[in-house]
Amino acid sequence: SKTRSLEIDGKSHAIDEWTNVPPSILSFLPRNLHLRPSHPVSITRQVIERSFPSPTYTHYNDIHPIVTVAQNFDSLGFPQDHPGRSRTDTYYINKDTVLRTHTSAHEAEIFRDNKSEGYTISADVYRRDAIDRSHYPVFHQMEGSRMWDRRKVPGGDIVKAVWADLERLPKHDLEVEDPNPTIHPERNPLQGEHHSSEEVEAIAAHLKRSLEGMVVELFSRAKKAAVAAGNTNADVMEPLKVRWVEAYFPFTSPSYELEVFWQGDWLEILGCGVTKQELLINAGVPDQLGWAFGVGLERVAMLLFSIPDIRLFWSKDPRFLSQFSTMENINTFVPFSRHPSCYKDVSFWLRSSSSSAGGGLKANAQDFHENDVMEVVRDIGGDLVEDVKLTDEFTHPVSGRRSLCYRINYRSLERTLTNEEANELHNSVRERLVKKLGVELR
Ligand code: PHE
Repeated sequence: SKTRSLEIDGKSHAIDEWTNVPPSILSFLPRNLHLRPSHPVSITRQVIERSFPSPTYTHYNDIHPIVTVAQNFDSLGFPQDHPGRSRTDTYYINKDTVLRTHTSAHEAEIFRDNKSEGYTISADVYRRDAIDRSHYPVFHQMEGSRMWDRRKVPGGDIVKAVWADLERLPKHDLEVEDPNPTIHPERNPLQGEHHSSEEVEAIAAHLKRSLEGMVVELFSRAKKAAVAAGNTNADVMEPLKVRWVEAYFPFTSPSYELEVFWQGDWLEILGCGVTKQELLINAGVPDQLGWAFGVGLERVAMLLFSIPDIRLFWSKDPRFLSQFSTMENINTFVPFSRHPSCYKDVSFWLRSSSSSAGGGLKANAQDFHENDVMEVVRDIGGDLVEDVKLTDEFTHPVSGRRSLCYRINYRSLERTLTNEEANELHNSVRERLVKKLGVELR
């Protein structure tokens, strides 16, 4: 019997029953938007890196996206049954290998490397997800971390050293809501066997102040750009507001999210927390302790440049790319003409569970996952699909079979689609849904 394999960047990977990464996704690996000069994702990276200057922080921007399941999940303490591990959410190369779902996949190896007190990693990350104007299966994150070494700080006094470092951070007059205590005994506990509460108060304060500084740096530029573009709406002119909310990550405790009040809504822009000491112990640096964060670069870039659709970042159209220059020159994106939407519905019955023999990838009613529909649409329609929405769902009262209807919005960012073109795409989607998911069209 022949072993099948996938050749990626000169490396051969065995294929097995876990493999679910389509060629269309692998084609994103060489794009490296975060490194392209003048690309908004790259400009956003550079602005954020300014808040985490070298030599305190080493900037890693070139780490390959194929990682082991151990790196992406195990090393970070993800439980075996964590939904993030499922094939509906994550692209598997094979059962031991994935496209990283977050930059945290590299925490352990960088802790082990122990080059500097801090670092940032910027990189492409991959997740199976919905299709709409703010979700794309490939996006970019920046991870950052800062550590203090018990053996190296004066007198071994972490508390004093961290507060002293905080005093040296730039001051700001950002309006900050931080209503919750730093430590919550159940939801946001102290790692009591490793840290004192005074240490965690100091580290959390340093973390929050560092990230608030980053937000000020970013949004003062966004505001300047908006004003330069003649946008003086009340929501632009209002003073910037952020708030800290409790969060949970398997690899930090306590954990927080930072939300920014922008154009009338609270937007979550990053997750962070005090690094779990097990990670540092396992990485051979047990005397270090500190914080980590992860921020989505597209999410921030969309605010910074007023970019309305996440697909635009992947556009090779000079009408998009030529609008951006440098981090000193942030400007509001001027949309080129908006082309008409073309809505097409597809309705189907899921296979009843009794007919699931030889299932494989095929979706019977229990193991059906919407992300499988999204991927079929994405694979065929690519960037010609703006969003996909579930518009109807019911269960037949007699047969018990489930029926779903999705509405696909075909719309190019660059040109007007003809109805024939949309029909052709839609017919391929219908056929592929039958072939891949075993649904019955209605
Ligand atoms: N990796 C997390 C995510 O993708 C973000 C995070 C990074 C949280 C580092 C805490 C510390 O959601």
